[in-house]
Amino acid sequence: MARYSVVLLPGDGIGPEIVEATQIVLAAAGVEIDWKPFDVGVAALERTGSPLPDEVVEEIRRCGVALKGPIATPIGGGFASVNVALRQRLNLYANLRPVRSLPGVPARYSGVDLVIIRENTEDLYAGIEHWLDDDTAIAVKRITRTASRQIARFAFDYASRHRRRQVTAVHKANILKMSDGLFLQCAREIASQYPQVRYVERLVDALCLDLVLDPERHDVLLCPNLYGDIVSDLAAGLVGGLGLTPAANIGDEVAVFEAVHGSAPDIAGKGIANPTALILASAMMLAHLGDDEAAARVERAVVETYRRGRALPPDVGGTATTREFTQAVVACIA
Ligand code: NAI
Repeated sequence: MARYSVVLLPGDGIGPEIVEATQIVLAAAGVEIDWKPFDVGVAALERTGSPLPDEVVEEIRRCGVALKGPIATPIGGGFASVNVALRQRLNLYANLRPVRSLPGVPARYSGVDLVIIRENTEDLYAGIEHWLDDDTAIAVKRITRTASRQIARFAFDYASRHRRRQVTAVHKANILKMSDGLFLQCAREIASQYPQVRYVERLVDALCLDLVLDPERHDVLLCPNLYGDIVSDLAAGLVGGLGLTPAANIGDEVAVFEAVHGSAPDIAGKGIANPTALILASAMMLAHLGDDEAAARVERAVVETYRRGRALPPDVGGTATTREFTQAVVACIA
């Protein structure tokens, strides 16, 4: 009998390749999972008329946990992002994105240990857009007190539980005085309830400069949705690229684990995708399920694979295929 039931969304592009790698690693780590696979995106649209069928959302609610490959979103038209819809429909209000240096990865910095906590349901991603006239399009940046307090509380709780020293609220409240102003007001209010965690504020542009010049002095970054999205890719670049950084979308009842990166259409089907981000996301999933021991086993195997450095994928300077890298991780499971 499987111990866990997990909805599996293989996704598009390199999704199925990195999902397969992750399943192999979890099985080798002795984790028994009853996978519930579903198509979403284009495949689901063609089959059911919806890119995110209700039955998928219901099954994720029922299981409480999903592992998701990246899902492609049409640009400038077509259906709305399935990623954003999942986050909004399941109220996955927190996007947790640890960014850590791995040994042996050619990267700009070697001591990065950041956690990006991104509000996941509103901001410009609320999807409120309209045409004012033929030449003018308007998008609404929606910031609410409820969601801002909720994400700030999540960030300070996380910082306290994981003994992080500092939370930085990221904003542009000098220009967006009301919307980012409200986000900051909520961050300050919650910060005052956590005197043990240092609280600072940084304009998003200044933060980007700080991160590029001296990322090792940053800790937890509390971001509204859009800045969190952009800062995540920047931070991934500091430690060696998008192939390495995992993400968890967390709500009160449900959590969906994925990589920060997208479907990488430029390398899809070539067998060279780096599955590290999704494997690390699966370790976050195990920790969320309460299996800290298995989570640590998977994470240690990934770190050890990089330390040995014999079978690394091309995006981090190696020549290994996805399968060769996966086997190297399996060989490191203790
Ligand atoms: P992307 O993240 O897919 O790719 C950017 C670059 O990073 C590419 O050169 C790609 O080859 C490389 N890369 C990404 N992941 C990699 C991995 N695991 N191993 C090796 N190289 C990797 O971003 P892009 O091209 O802007 O987006 C492609 C599609 O993915 C779009 O349709 C976008 O909407 C979607 N997307 C989905 C996300 C999700 O499902 N959460 C997140 C971001 C984008």
